[in-house]
Amino acid sequence: MIILGIETSCDDTAISIIKTSASALKKKQPVFSDFEILSDCIASQVKIHSEYGGVFPAVAKREHQKNITPLLIKSLKNSDLLKKNKKSIDAKKLLKVQKILERNQDIFNDIKEFFKEYEIPEINKIAVTMGPGLEPCLYTGINFARSLSLYWNIPLTSVNHLEGHIISNWLSPIEKISFPATALVVSGGNTQIINIEAIGRYKLIGETRDDAAGECFDKTARILGLDYPGGPSIAKEVKKFKAKKFNISLPRPMKYDKNYDFSFSGLKTAVLYDFKKRTDEEKKSKEYIIEMCYEIQKSIIDVLVFKTMKVAEQYKTKTILLGGGVSANKELIKEFKKQCKVKKIDFNAPLPKFSGDNASMIALTGLFSPNAKKTSWQKIKPNSNLKING
Ligand code: KG4
Repeated sequence: MIILGIETSCDDTAISIIKTSASALKKKQPVFSDFEILSDCIASQVKIHSEYGGVFPAVAKREHQKNITPLLIKSLKNSDLLKKNKKSIDAKKLLKVQKILERNQDIFNDIKEFFKEYEIPEINKIAVTMGPGLEPCLYTGINFARSLSLYWNIPLTSVNHLEGHIISNWLSPIEKISFPATALVVSGGNTQIINIEAIGRYKLIGETRDDAAGECFDKTARILGLDYPGGPSIAKEVKKFKAKKFNISLPRPMKYDKNYDFSFSGLKTAVLYDFKKRTDEEKKSKEYIIEMCYEIQKSIIDVLVFKTMKVAEQYKTKTILLGGGVSANKELIKEFKKQCKVKKIDFNAPLPKFSGDNASMIALTGLFSPNAKKTSWQKIKPNSNLKING
């Protein structure tokens, strides 16, 4: 069984191809040795969006359209599945593809040439992200997947992006994850605590009421004049921190509230107020920026870890899992490891290359999750507010 994963929910165009065996598919829980990643390709738009300090949906859609067919070719080539075509093009099917891609003309122009030049690859299934995410971006990936499914006559399945982030943990070289587990999915668009009974059985326990943790990193970094994405820029500054000089003190929004929700917009405002009251000299001083970054990261980590550990205790969780771009943060991982060790809870964070958006997590979810049901190219639609419960 070979599956092609497609991810375009935000600003990364990603395509992955994963191979597994029929016996592995029967297992309740796959292990690392059950599958082989034949290729994992990504076209990042970070440089383009850094000009705006955040993701611009229309620009992201344009870039996805430009990148997706070349990325598919690269991915098939890396997987040794790219073969030159000997047959002529199927004009009837191509007309249908043209209809699917009527709002993605650039893709149609590329894919037409691709169908002419290359044979149908030995792929058994296509998995594509259906949400949550930016609607124009989701549409691009979905229309691309629908076109391939129709032209190649290969089944299609839709995947919840958040479930993908949870499943990215199975891309780590670990043998087994014990349930019940609790996942903290932290990215630029989401901050959610999700309880997991088994693969495919989830319950949303808490989420952000305003900005996501990654968004808070990005916006506060922008206030301080640091590069986008803000998370890695802030983490880099924190490494230089030695001692406090400016007495910066930031809030821990909703830390002690009785629910498990988050709020990070107040933290961003607190950073802005502190920044505004500083003299021009202070604002430009390296020590001020470093101390502020240290405090921002500390505050975000403090709230995330405190609330997740509280959920884990209440629900007698056996494993805590991370997912999403922010889960690449080394200090966040260190703090979780420390507290999980004390509470005797297993812990896993995805490998850094699978913490942010990627298509291997979508392909793997499409292979193993009971939620990834077969759908037809006629029916599949994006859902930008898709929830995880189920
Ligand atoms: O999951 P992701 O790649 O994209 C989506 O949001 O869908 O997450 C991107 C977010 C950005 O907000 C970025 O600042 C944050 O993840 N991020 C980090 C780190 N690396 C990326 N935040 C904190 N520390 C990091 N090392």
